[in-house]
Amino acid sequence: MVDLDIIRDSINIQYDEKELETILLQFCNQPLNHDNFYIQNRSISKVLAYFFNDLIYKAKSKNGRYSPNEILYDDKLLRQALDYIGKHPNFYAQKSPEANLRDFFYSSSMCGKVTNFNPVIARKIFEHYMPCENATIFDYSCGFGSRMLGALTSPYKYRYVGVDPYRELYYRLLQFSNWISTVLGEDESRAQIINQGAEQFIDSLVGQVDLSFSSPPYFNYEIYTDEPTQAYIMWPTYEEFVKKFVSPLIQNLYAYTKPNGIHIVNLEDTKRIKMIDDWLRIAYEVGFKLVEKREIETLKRKSTKNKNLLLVMEK
Ligand SMILES: C[S@@+](CC[C@H](N)C(=O)[O-])C[C@H]1O[C@@H](n2cnc3c(N)ncnc32)[C@H](O)[C@@H]1O
Repeated sequence: MVDLDIIRDSINIQYDEKELETILLQFCNQPLNHDNFYIQNRSISKVLAYFFNDLIYKAKSKNGRYSPNEILYDDKLLRQALDYIGKHPNFYAQKSPEANLRDFFYSSSMCGKVTNFNPVIARKIFEHYMPCENATIFDYSCGFGSRMLGALTSPYKYRYVGVDPYRELYYRLLQFSNWISTVLGEDESRAQIINQGAEQFIDSLVGQVDLSFSSPPYFNYEIYTDEPTQAYIMWPTYEEFVKKFVSPLIQNLYAYTKPNGIHIVNLEDTKRIKMIDDWLRIAYEVGFKLVEKREIETLKRKSTKNKNLLLVMEK
């Protein structure tokens, strides 16, 4: 019988920090073709996995029944997952049980692993829509660091400001931004992370933002933590969530954005939650003009039929 504790102990890939530094520096020096949104570098995601995987495994998406951690730390569920993997050797053909389990977390409907926006696509979006040195990017829901990584590795030397109310994640983001600036040999002033909800107004940002971009929470489709400051916990019905979170957030973004500045949102409409139309309606009311609607094929989970759109607007 497989020893479950050995699997638990080895589920997180052990990365060598020197290797991660090399990956970061190579990505910084790699010019990206931002006319398309293809993923031109896969190694850079290792950096995010190293810093955020444990927090990603705690979170749960509605596209599966359990979070990765709920499966990992329940003997019965873990054995069930390993049995399933054992019965499908053609599909789960990695070299070790833990590598197969990582694939299982991604592909099985038993597991609702949350997605993280791809950092290569994030950097391409910034470079495509704001090809200006030292521009200020505002990320209104930092999540697991992908937009911060994209902004800080671009040759445009963007200034990054991000907000997220999740306390444990905030400290991790600080650690991550310190690591990036140390490896790049820069001071830490290019990144600022603020531990609060995006619906709260920040005076110092008025008229300062060239481009805002995020992949905000789709109401309660993904559960990251039970901290009471999460938007879907503070406003537990979808109607309240739109009125008390989405609406003030878009008004804030309009106030923060410079004239002719850009606002971008990545939204996913699920069977139950349809945010795209609500977001557009509020953005129009506030004064944004729609410039483009764009589908990013690579962001779609293979297992869902959810509609994933990038909405690009101008002030
Ligand atoms: C970036 S979003 C969605 C992640 C998405 N699946 C992706 O691909 O990027 C996730 C973040 O929203 C954050 N969040 C929750 N309530 C928020 C609020 N009121 N303001 C800003 N961010 C919030 C959560 O803490 C979490 O880190």
